[in-house]
Formats: sequence, structure tokens, C-alpha cells
Amino acid sequence: MNEQDLADLDDEKLHHALESAEEMEHPDKLDLHTSADAVRALREHWKDSRKRAVRTGLLGLDQTLGGGLRAGDLMALAGPTGQGKTGLLLQIARHTARDGARVLYFSCEIEETESAARLAALERYHLPDAKDAVGFGDILDGKPSDAMTAEAIDLVEAASASLYIEQIPDGGTVDDVRAKVKALRESYPDDPLVVIVDPLQRLFVGDGGARSGSVARSMNASETERIGQVGLALKRLASDTRAAVIFGSDSTMQAASDDGRGSSSGLRGSYILSNAATSIFWLHVDDDPEKLVKKLDQERLEWARGVHEINMGVAGLPKIQPLGPKPAALECRKNRRGRRNVAIPLVSVPGANLFLDGDVVPSQVPGASR
Ligand SMILES: Nc1ncnc2c1ncn2[C@@H]1O[C@H](COP(=O)(O)OP(=O)(O)OP(=O)(O)O)[C@@H](O)[C@H]1O
Ligand SMILES: [Mg+2]
Repeated sequence: MNEQDLADLDDEKLHHALESAEEMEHPDKLDLHTSADAVRALREHWKDSRKRAVRTGLLGLDQTLGGGLRAGDLMALAGPTGQGKTGLLLQIARHTARDGARVLYFSCEIEETESAARLAALERYHLPDAKDAVGFGDILDGKPSDAMTAEAIDLVEAASASLYIEQIPDGGTVDDVRAKVKALRESYPDDPLVVIVDPLQRLFVGDGGARSGSVARSMNASETERIGQVGLALKRLASDTRAAVIFGSDSTMQAASDDGRGSSSGLRGSYILSNAATSIFWLHVDDDPEKLVKKLDQERLEWARGVHEINMGVAGLPKIQPLGPKPAALECRKNRRGRRNVAIPLVSVPGANLFLDGDVVPSQVPGASR
């Protein structure tokens, strides 16, 4: 809600209350923040162009997030290995950059060449004349070399005005990430910023964080604590630099083997990490729609089954058949922006680093509650 919306509420009492709270001087002159300070912050917040929602390009996800990613968000994308977390994060990087954000993708896992090949496969599928999709593995190997693939590669190159791909070496720290994000924020003080870290588990706490010196070293010694502290540091980064931060998260082996359902406690680094995140999404993929549905919570079951009957029948899927379109769902486990008990239907094409929207939006989920 902005100031205009507030005025449109035509609630003069509310308006006056806000104004008088703002004007009020605390008589005690204590060094404490008052409600007037909070209102001042609220007014600044309304004016802040960096806080607009940036669209991820997936309708269901954007709607669940209340319009898209916002400054200060810390979003977790979790799931067992090989589900396509990296693919989805790169796709979000591509879409948010197109939606006007400055996007900084920190890869702690795949090489720069693979990021380029995956982004090219994604672009190629979206070319207006594309009649098929190509695998990113083939692009990585230098084949195919057709005109459309070349065009897609050119498009990835042209995205460089807003899409940054940084490699994080082994042992990289949150301080390394912070330095780069701060530099980008200083160069572009007014743009929405999206920061992606994939995966979070590969980052360490640096000495420059809230915990310093030997404390940081002992923190890093315990994996669960370290990951929790990395999560907290990323949350601070999101807030300090007015960025939306998304991180990929490996689930524990336990959660991965536990019929794929996982839980928020299956985020490695569980409690602190789950607590720091403003939203947590679990990515589920399965060849068999029935099995996929069984991985979702019972209350989402009927809805998810209906969705995948629709998805598997949509026109256009045959053109990507060889690369394996599979039913997928993003299950929302935590959400401070809106609905939580939803599973967002997707179609995964892992070979082409591609996720497509399902046909049903979360608001149509029967029985969904906040
Ligand atoms: N060279 C390749 N060509 C085509 N498909 C590939 C290639 N390498 C991997 N894949 C497919 O891509 C998918 C992996 O997706 P992705 O790396 O995005 O998953 P992830 O969830 O990030 O996994 P991880 O937990 O290992 O990081 C797998 O299903 C795999 O079969
Ligand atoms: Mg990955």
C-alpha cells in the first residue's frame, strides 16, 4: 500500500493517527526508537523504488509471493539432489533480470561454462520460432551449432547489462558475497536487486560478520551452526542492501531418502536457517504424477492430481518430449508474504534447464489456507 492508497481508504482517523504519531516528540529524550520513528521508516519504505516486486516469471510462484520477490526477502529453494534447483535458480535469474532487476548469481557449484550453456538452452526454448528444445549438455559440448542456438547464446551475452555470474571458490565466505553485492548496490542505488546463492551449504561465515575471529572459526567447525549463521548473514545482507536474496539448499540425506517429502527441518542448518528465511519452497519432481502427488501434503493432494492431468496434456509439450517433461511442484513450507499451504504446479524439463508454469493458479486450490 502506498500513500495514495492510504488516502483512498478515506479513513481520516487513520491518517491523523499516523501524522500525530510522526510529529510526536518523546518528552523523555531517551535514546529509544518510538512509534514516530517507526512511522517515519514506514513513509520512507513507501517511497523506496527498490522494494517493488520483481517477477520470477512463474505465475504461481509470483502469486504466492504476493507479486514477486521484494527487497529484504530471504527465499529458500530446497530439495533433494538432482531435482532441478540450480536450473530453477538460473531461470529465476534470467527472468528477474528481464523484469528490470540487477541480478547477481553466485555459483558455488557449477562452472561458469555450464551456467552459460544452461542459460542458452533456456533462451533457445523461448525463441519465437523454436519448435523444439535442446539439452544444455549438448550446448556445453559445442553442439548443436544451428542458427537458433547461436541466437540464444547471443541473447545470453546481451543480458550482461543486468545479469552477473560470479563463481565462489571452495571455502568462499559470506563476506566475499557481501562485498560484491555492496559494490553493485553502490553503483545502482535505485534498482531492484536480486542475489542468488547456489547452494548455501557451500558458503562459510567470514571474519567480518557479526561473529568474528575465533568465534567465526569455531562456528564454522559445526556444520549445522555454520549453515545457520550463513543464513542469518544473508538475511542481514538482504536487509542492509535492500536486495531479495534466494538460496538453493541441499536437503539432508535423511529428508532426501524419506520418500522425498522432506520438511523444513530437512534444510541443512535447520532451525536458524528456517527461521531466517522469509519463505521456504520445496521442489519435487517425479516421472510419475501419482508418485509426485504422494510426496505432497495430504491437504494438497486432490488439487495436485487435477493439475497434473492438465499439465501432461497441454499442447506444446511434445516438442520437448526427448528431454523429459516431468510433472513437478513447488511446495510452499513457509511464507511471510501470503499463502503457505500451496503446491505450485510446474512442468520440469531438466535437460533444457527449463520449468514451465502449470495451468492452475494457487488461488484455485481447494481448501488452501494461510
Ligand atoms: N549434461 C547434462 N545434459 C542434460 N541434462 C543434464 C546434464 N547434467 C545434468 N542433467 C540433468 O539436470 C538435472 C539436474 O538439475 P539441477 O542441477 O538443476 O539439480 P539440483 O537440484 O540443483 O541438483 P544438486 O542438488 O545436485 O545441485 C538432473 O535431472 C540431470 O539429469
Ligand atoms: Mg544444484
